[in-house]
Formats: sequence, C-alpha cells, structure tokens
Amino acid sequence: MTYDSQVHQLAVTAMAASLRWQQLIILFWVYGAVSLVSAAYIESESEVLPNDEFVVALASATTRLSLAQATRSYRAGMQTLIMTDNETMVPFLNTVYSKYREVYKYHPDEHTVAEKMHAKNPGDYRAALAPFAAHLHFGDTYKWMLYGDDDTVFFMPGVRKLVAQFDHNLPFALSDNLWYDSNHPRLEAFRCLPCGFNTSAVRTTSAEQNGTANATTAAKDPFFIPRPACPFCSRTDACPPSEPDCTIGGGAHGGAGMIFSVGLMRKLLYDDMVACMERIYHCSGGDCLVSQCIWRAGYGFTDPGISLLYDDPYAHILFDSLASRWFLRNPIEQIYLGNCNSEVCSYLVRNAVSFHLRGKSYPSFPKAAAAMFGIVESHAAAVEFLDVLEDTESRPPPRGT
Ligand SMILES: *[C@@H]1O[C@H](CO)[C@@H](O)[C@H](O)[C@H]1NC(C)=O
Ligand SMILES: *[C@@H]1O[C@H](CO)[C@@H](O)[C@H](O)[C@H]1NC(C)=O
Ligand SMILES: *[C@@H]1O[C@H](CO)[C@@H](O)[C@H](O)[C@H]1NC(C)=O
Ligand SMILES: *[C@@H]1O[C@H](CO)[C@@H](O)[C@H](O)[C@H]1NC(C)=O
Repeated sequence: MTYDSQVHQLAVTAMAASLRWQQLIILFWVYGAVSLVSAAYIESESEVLPNDEFVVALASATTRLSLAQATRSYRAGMQTLIMTDNETMVPFLNTVYSKYREVYKYHPDEHTVAEKMHAKNPGDYRAALAPFAAHLHFGDTYKWMLYGDDDTVFFMPGVRKLVAQFDHNLPFALSDNLWYDSNHPRLEAFRCLPCGFNTSAVRTTSAEQNGTANATTAAKDPFFIPRPACPFCSRTDACPPSEPDCTIGGGAHGGAGMIFSVGLMRKLLYDDMVACMERIYHCSGGDCLVSQCIWRAGYGFTDPGISLLYDDPYAHILFDSLASRWFLRNPIEQIYLGNCNSEVCSYLVRNAVSFHLRGKSYPSFPKAAAAMFGIVESHAAAVEFLDVLEDTESRPPPRGT
C-alpha cells in the first residue's frame, strides 16, 4: 500500500479548516532547516525497531493502577513489568491482563523509621526495583527498556529515532532530563554526549560568551559541555576533568523517563542492584536510587545532546521538555489552531521522546489515564499530518500562489 487517499482527504480538509498555505510553506521551510541540523549526527534511521524489541518497566500502586494500565496507549505489543503494592491482587492481575503482555510483581511500600528510608516516599524503593526486576523476568528478549513513572508517556516515533543511533549491546542509559541542584532538566548535570558528537556545533551559550566554557571546563561553570564518550559513557567520562571523582546526585528524572540498553541491563544484576540500594539512604526518589546504582556500577547517562545545538536548549529537551509541554499535551490541536508554526513545535512533535503527565494534577487518576490515551493519539495524528505536509509530490501546488 503506497498511498492512503482517505488520510489525504482528511488532512486536506483539516488544512483547509485551519491553516493557510502560507503557514504550511513556513512549516515546510522550517522543517527542512531543522533536518539539516539534526542530520549532523543522526546518521541512520534505517533500522526501524518493532515494538517487541522494547520492554517497559514501571511501578505503580493499587490506587494508581489505571495510570499504569493507560501506558498501553503507547506500548502495544511490548512486554511490560508493573510493580505494585498489593500482594493479593497480583495473581488476578497476571491472569486477566496477560493478554496485554503485562506481568505484575509485588513489592510493599517502605514502612520504616524516617532515618532508615532509602528514598523520600514509601513507593520509591518499589519504583527503583522495577527495571532490574523486569530484566530478571524477561531476560535477554529485547533491545531497549523504557522505564518511567506510571504517568509517563513515551512517544515511539521519537524513541525509535533516538535508539537507532546507539548499539543496544553496549551499556547505555539515555536521558536529557537530569537533576542538578534540586532542579531538572539542568544542563549542568554530569553526563556524556554520544560518541562522535560534534561539540563545535554546540550553540553559543552565555558561558561561552563570557569566555569560560569549552570541552574541558568544569561543571561548576554554568554551561558545562559534556564529553562525547566512546564507545559508551563510563562514570569517568561523565565527570569533568577538573572533578574526576564527581558524583551524579539525583541522576535522571523518573517522570521524564529513561531508556536503557539490554547491554546495560545485562551488567546490572538484580541482587547487586538491591545490595546497592540497601546501602543508600535519603535518595530524592526511585529515580535517584536507580541513577545512583547505575553510577556506582560504573556508568553515566548519555544525553542525546540535540538540545545543545539550539540557542534555546531547554525548549529542545527530548525527555519531557518542560518548556514545550503546552503543545506536546495536544499537538494535533495546536497544529489545527495554527500554533505549531515554529521550528520548535514541528521539531519536537517529530523527535520528543516522552511526556510526564503528572497524574496528581488531574481531578482523578482515571481522568489522567484517559488523558494519556488522548496525548498518544494526538501526537500520532500530528506526526502523520507533518508527513502529509512533507509529501508534496502527491499534491498539486496550492491554488492562488
Ligand atoms: C488488596 O487487594 C485485595 C483483593 O482485591 C483487597 O481485598 C485488599 O483490601 C487489598 N489490600 C489493600 C491494603 O489495599
Ligand atoms: C562540526 O561543527 C562545526 C560547526 O558547526 C562545523 O564547522 C564542522 O564542519 C563540523 N564537523 C564535522 C566533522 O561535522
Ligand atoms: C556572564 O557574565 C554576565 C556579566 O558578568 C553575568 O551576569 C552572567 O551571569 C554570566 N553568565 C554566565 C553563564 O556565567
Ligand atoms: C578551557 O577552559 C579552561 C578554564 O577556563 C582553560 O583553563 C582551558 O585553557 C580552556 N581550554 C581550551 C582548549 O580552550
């Protein structure tokens, strides 16, 4: 099947209703320019990974289970491990929902005196166990693991583009939304850039303007430019030369999600990770425990680094860009309203990796769960629509120009 005239018809109707051709032309033009920038390091998108090459790991709780299950909106066909807090429900959940390739495991809330808590909230330890429990359960049956909160949505088109640049057999932990100084995302966080990343293409930053930033600048400087690490990011690679024994702090943000290669997960055995977490107290969350133990095992996070190629890096963060939430929440509507004419908007629709819904900000968890399905559909429609715009050959030139 080469051409779907129905899609075309719908899209043309939508365009007529909402966008003028001048706006569309701007969109084409802008998208073309962005492709050039990205082409600098996205070398191959030839390998399109099917969904069953991914597994999903997340933790939830009885009250939030509708959120965990609403991640089905993006993960059709993926094996998924869900850690929950009610042991009696687990056999039932496993029987009923195996049709969604879901596996439920039990781990209780952390009930202990405050001084002995491994992380802040009672459910954090359970969240931290999920990725390691998932690898233990699924074994070597996948290439990439998507790990997030139960209200994290992954955008698979962006995920596929991202992982296509990395060898899944090498140990990779991917995110560009890292904690630093109790905030996230922060570009000061200790991390690496992908091997071969062209750091001279990094856009001028205020630090550079002040003449302090270069590849060997300490992270204390406001805009630390991480090292492109080959072939993968060791802990040493992630630290600036001026601070070779740096620590990772909070690590990657759990709500924004993290992507792990099977090559990494093979090295992080469940029992070792439990032993690691048992030795940590007062981490800021499950994400902190996971990041700390990855770090202690010798690995740092790799930032895809795309954001650094722009003057406004924070608007180009791929893992839950806070600056771009307003349109990633409902991209097809924003296109329809004519609000997606900027380079950032079309770029992020195509490349964004994740969105953190923040279930608690909705009137109820079931409503938040419904919103998760809405976001995934809206995003998929937006990507499809941008494809229609780009496919100019199939269409006569616009009238009246
Ligand atoms: C756990 O689930 C069972 C079965 O649905 C229920 O009877 C029980 O009250 C639940 N326990 C808690 C602590 O939520
Ligand atoms: C790296 O980026 C700089 C600045 O954009 C550019 O001049 C140079 O050609 C690039 N090098 C490679 C190997 O792409
Ligand atoms: C650069 O210098 C200006 C003026 O001294 C200062 O206000 C600004 O914070 C500096 N920027 C960085 C990133 O250090
Ligand atoms: C990088 O910055 C540091 C600190 O400002 C400076 O000492 C060093 O010479 C610079 N290196 C290069 C290659 O410019």
